[in-house]
Amino acid sequence: MSVARKSEYSIALLPGDGIGPEIVEQARRVLVAAAELAGVKFSFEEGLIGGAAIDATGTALPDDTTAMCKRADAVLLGAVGGPKWDNPSAKVRPEQGLLAIRKALGLYANLRPVAPHASLVDASPLRPERLAGVDLLVVRELTGGIYFGEKGLEQLPGGGERARDLCTYDTEEVTRIVRMAGELARGRRGKVTSVDKANVLETSRLWRRIATKVLAEEFPDLQVEHVLVDSCAMVLVTNPARFDVIVTENMFGDILTDEAAVLTGSIGLLPSASLGAVAAGGATRVGLYEPIHGSAPDIAGKGIANPVGTILSAAMLLRHSLGLEAEAKAVERAVADAVKDGARTKDLGGSLSTVAAADEVLSRLARETTAA
Ligand code: IPM
Ligand code: MG
Repeated sequence: MSVARKSEYSIALLPGDGIGPEIVEQARRVLVAAAELAGVKFSFEEGLIGGAAIDATGTALPDDTTAMCKRADAVLLGAVGGPKWDNPSAKVRPEQGLLAIRKALGLYANLRPVAPHASLVDASPLRPERLAGVDLLVVRELTGGIYFGEKGLEQLPGGGERARDLCTYDTEEVTRIVRMAGELARGRRGKVTSVDKANVLETSRLWRRIATKVLAEEFPDLQVEHVLVDSCAMVLVTNPARFDVIVTENMFGDILTDEAAVLTGSIGLLPSASLGAVAAGGATRVGLYEPIHGSAPDIAGKGIANPVGTILSAAMLLRHSLGLEAEAKAVERAVADAVKDGARTKDLGGSLSTVAAADEVLSRLARETTAA
């Protein structure tokens, strides 16, 4: 999965809505510092997506945003959505921008790591003893399944209506995501849990057959289990430490990642990566990085949002898209130290502003620079 090094990279910034612009700006400062640490150069370009794009252009993903993201080595996104655009039956909606950019960039794998910070276990809704040893990664299929299948709405003769959303998966779609989960598990504790609903769904029976075959043939060194999605939802709260890498289809992954995210009680800290293929030449891997949390319209513009989820997303960008592993780790260390030392925004019971929280991370990152 590793990518070779270049000396200059371009990064597309999509601030989006609500607190998006505030947190993306802080993550950009961290990326600049990380580039210095790596002795490389980053150039940034900014584009519209979501509600901000709807207001300015009438569409949630303008063509020039797509083109800009395709040109870039990686994309960092804030958040999309807000009450202004909230009507689920409106013709244009902010989330369409997110779904469309995933499809346009071929971002088939969504990685959501969940590992509670030792200093924050009290923030979790679970008892501390249930959190001991929790360090899991959900690998969610992101461009297939019911999200992107044919949809339909028809009028019935009696006056009612019937709606349909088709769920399909093919061999190639399942193979590539299971393979990515296997590769990621090798760099972790060596266990893959494939989650499906094979007792009911045909797509899940295909999923399980392919997952079994790919993991047996290409990853005989890994420990593998197959778990039904309802049972997985239960084990996530009763015994989450049992999981290492969880791989699953698009909608199951959507639901399970929200559940997994609240385990830590600090959703403002969690990053995500959406990955596609390795670029021609092998120097970069296309990817879009965003915090797990939403656009938090209630606190937008107040300067109190937690920038850490976005900063850790930037660390994932350094690792997965640019191959800058040492710098990714340095950012993660700087964040962990800052949180441990009590550098906290309001959501974590602290009083730091968005900028001050990022400053705490930056000052620790600067120490890494001089230590290197
Ligand atoms: C997510 C979100 C999106 C999804 C929405 C906003 C379309 O819930 O990234 O998990 O369902 O994929
Ligand atoms: Mg979701």
